[in-house]
Amino acid sequence: MFIRKKGGRKGFLFSYKKNENVLVLLLYLNRLNSIYSLILECKINQMNEPIKTIALLTSGGDSPGMNAAIRAVVRACSYYRIDCVGVYRGYQGLIEGDYEPMNARQVSNLINKGGTSLKSARSTEFRTVEGRAKAYEQLKKAGINALVVVGGDGTFTGALKFNEEHGFPVVGIPGTIDNDIFGTDFTIGYDTALNTVVEAIDKIRDTASSHNRLFFIEVMGRDAGFIALNSGIGAGAGEILIPEENLGLERLVDSLNTSKENGKTSSLVVVSEGDKIGKNVFELAAHFEENFEDYDIRVSVLGHMQRGGSPSCFDRVLASRLGVAAVEAILDKKSNIMVGVINNKIMQTSLSDAIKMNNEINKELLKVAEITSV
Ligand code: F6P
Repeated sequence: MFIRKKGGRKGFLFSYKKNENVLVLLLYLNRLNSIYSLILECKINQMNEPIKTIALLTSGGDSPGMNAAIRAVVRACSYYRIDCVGVYRGYQGLIEGDYEPMNARQVSNLINKGGTSLKSARSTEFRTVEGRAKAYEQLKKAGINALVVVGGDGTFTGALKFNEEHGFPVVGIPGTIDNDIFGTDFTIGYDTALNTVVEAIDKIRDTASSHNRLFFIEVMGRDAGFIALNSGIGAGAGEILIPEENLGLERLVDSLNTSKENGKTSSLVVVSEGDKIGKNVFELAAHFEENFEDYDIRVSVLGHMQRGGSPSCFDRVLASRLGVAAVEAILDKKSNIMVGVINNKIMQTSLSDAIKMNNEINKELLKVAEITSV
């Protein structure tokens, strides 16, 4: 046995102590590891649990066709003989246990209705770890094995966090009028919103033409110009301003002046809500009012009417396909994915890609808009 001498080298006792510490640390790490494995195992077990009951919620901004998606999920559950539970008020209802078992007959006469019969809400509580833990407890208590969420970016971000923390199987269905979700060519509600916008712009065109006016029409799309670009082309707008393509104020002024010189007596400018040229559509109009007295200008903000109304046939079919695909994905033990339609085929995209990546604006459409507005 070595005894550590004062100021001398470390002896056996010291190395024994050191080794003991290492041993304790190793035992501790081993224990941590087994606790971690246990947690992981529980999570995997949860994925492997037989699917008996699926919960379904709609969250974020509503969109026409969400009801058709609800109907499709409920009926697919009935078809595959599993139970379906509707969760009211999105993630807030998930936390509060605002659940209701749903059967195929309960979703009769729903396919043609706008909005969402399950209601929607933006839950600040679900953004917290505690909120998500409460939601998990409620789901377990209700004997639910998997969750289908219908919504956009924010909805999927919440679902992904929830899965990461609790290993609970989640599948997303893209429902937003903005069409800004990666992994699908179309989101539920987009087509209906386009038709609503085109119908509104057609009406504005009548009065713009009667009064020889320049109209700035704001359409929705917080960060994306899909609604503006497509409705603008469809309604024959003279100019379309979108966040993805900021060509600047100068170009807009030049272009409107050229149109005037070319004999246009009225003009429609479709401005996406997220456009970066001015602070907003009113500021843009004010700039023209101050600098170009010969323009008689009006502003029209279409607002939330774009989110309502009976869904188009396209949206009803899309929602029905995606609702069935979501249930089938869950039965197939898939989790953390979003179902979408690409080139008319059902595709699955990881929720993280759906959140992180962006749908590109089709450059050909920009050219078409430019050519057809001369
Ligand atoms: O659903 C998406 C969206 O329509 C955006 O285009 C718009 O900015 C936003 O919702 C408006 O949300 P809220 O209903 O909360 O005002």
